[in-house]
Amino acid sequence: MTSVDGSRRRRLWQLAVETLDANWEGDHTVPSRTLYPHQWSWDSAFIAIGLAHVAPERAWRELETLFAAQWRDGRVPHIVFNPRVRVGGYFPGPQFWDSAVSPVAPPQATSGIVQPPVHAIAAWHVYRRDPSPAAGRRLAALYPKLVAAQHYLRHDRDVGGAGLVCLVHPWEAGLDNSPAWDAPMAAVPADPELMRRHRRHDTRVAAAEQRPTDVDYARYIVLVDSYRQRRYLDAGLAADHPFLVECPLFNALTAAAEYALADIAEVVGADPAAHREAGARLTEVLGERLWDPRSGTFHVRDLRTDVLLPSRTVLGLGPLLLPGLPPGQVEALVAEATSDRFGVAEVMPRPLPSYDRSAADFDPVRYWRGPSWINIGWLVREGLLRHGRPALAAGLAESMIDLVDRAGCHEYFEPNTGAGLGSPAFSWSAALLLDVLAATE
Ligand code: SER
Repeated sequence: MTSVDGSRRRRLWQLAVETLDANWEGDHTVPSRTLYPHQWSWDSAFIAIGLAHVAPERAWRELETLFAAQWRDGRVPHIVFNPRVRVGGYFPGPQFWDSAVSPVAPPQATSGIVQPPVHAIAAWHVYRRDPSPAAGRRLAALYPKLVAAQHYLRHDRDVGGAGLVCLVHPWEAGLDNSPAWDAPMAAVPADPELMRRHRRHDTRVAAAEQRPTDVDYARYIVLVDSYRQRRYLDAGLAADHPFLVECPLFNALTAAAEYALADIAEVVGADPAAHREAGARLTEVLGERLWDPRSGTFHVRDLRTDVLLPSRTVLGLGPLLLPGLPPGQVEALVAEATSDRFGVAEVMPRPLPSYDRSAADFDPVRYWRGPSWINIGWLVREGLLRHGRPALAAGLAESMIDLVDRAGCHEYFEPNTGAGLGSPAFSWSAALLLDVLAATE
């Protein structure tokens, strides 16, 4: 158990609460006032986990607002656009996505892609903090929507046909410019003409060297264009969509969501068995398709070439979340996490980086190519706890608390110096700090 002295704890708690209060928009929380002024899908899930400790009503509202924009095919969009935000306040905005082009889109303007399914896990956390009858009713109302979201991912997105979810854009993974996708992204045409017609918003408010490059953005835009042209429908993706990958963290979260749904099903009077079976099946297929026994970690599979990509990113640690992960794989992932590549330790832990510190192209400031992120630390900590490594989990928690203590609730952190990067006053850093601090009580 991490020990945090009382006054430090109170100061950090207050900072986190103030950050979340300042980013509250009445029915959802913006990830950041400057960089991300709309509602983001996995951000809202992490935010709800934190709000459960201080404002459970807002935690439920956060999830309910997001699911009010669920598509008719079950997908939960990665951005729900706030119509009150000025045009140009974010790129690509609602005009670019043009979700109305799809026959399955909701009336609200949203993006057309998904993000990692942390929502069932979040709903279960929120309920467990306050399992009142009123909370049970809200959980019961969310349950069928969560089930529909999983159905979409596990069936409509099973492009490889083996039972894993396939991503059609790096933004779906949440780790936009991770070195994990360098090879498949290099094959996407970077149409400079397309980008000349648009203006990035992010580099006006954040340092360019901390963000994806213009070439990355040109490719992001080509991929949105490709998916929009098919009206965001998934049938036939394998034939012509230029980016198709299976990600170990996304699929581990999909499996973990099934286990959370099993717990939820018990409370709301539904059948938990099918969820547990789905979780176990996903765990098995992850082992068959994304595990490399030679490297001892999980990798991304490029479905366009059917190659398991060699880079070692923090995505590979995602399957630690799974209760049924075979012991050999658990041991190997713990070894990977505690190696010099990732630096998790019981004593004198280093901040968990998003990419192998020893890689030649490790970049300690550029978004997902090295920096440390609180949400990823939180997920890996959950995995370590699940597999009976409380001292390592406490060391990781200590490193996360330390980052925020020294730099504030930043979006991400330089993993050597601890300097705050990206946006200040970032909601999920604040929210997950609350959850980690609560565990130190
Ligand atoms: N993370 C992306 C951005 O930077 C999109 O979700 O805007």
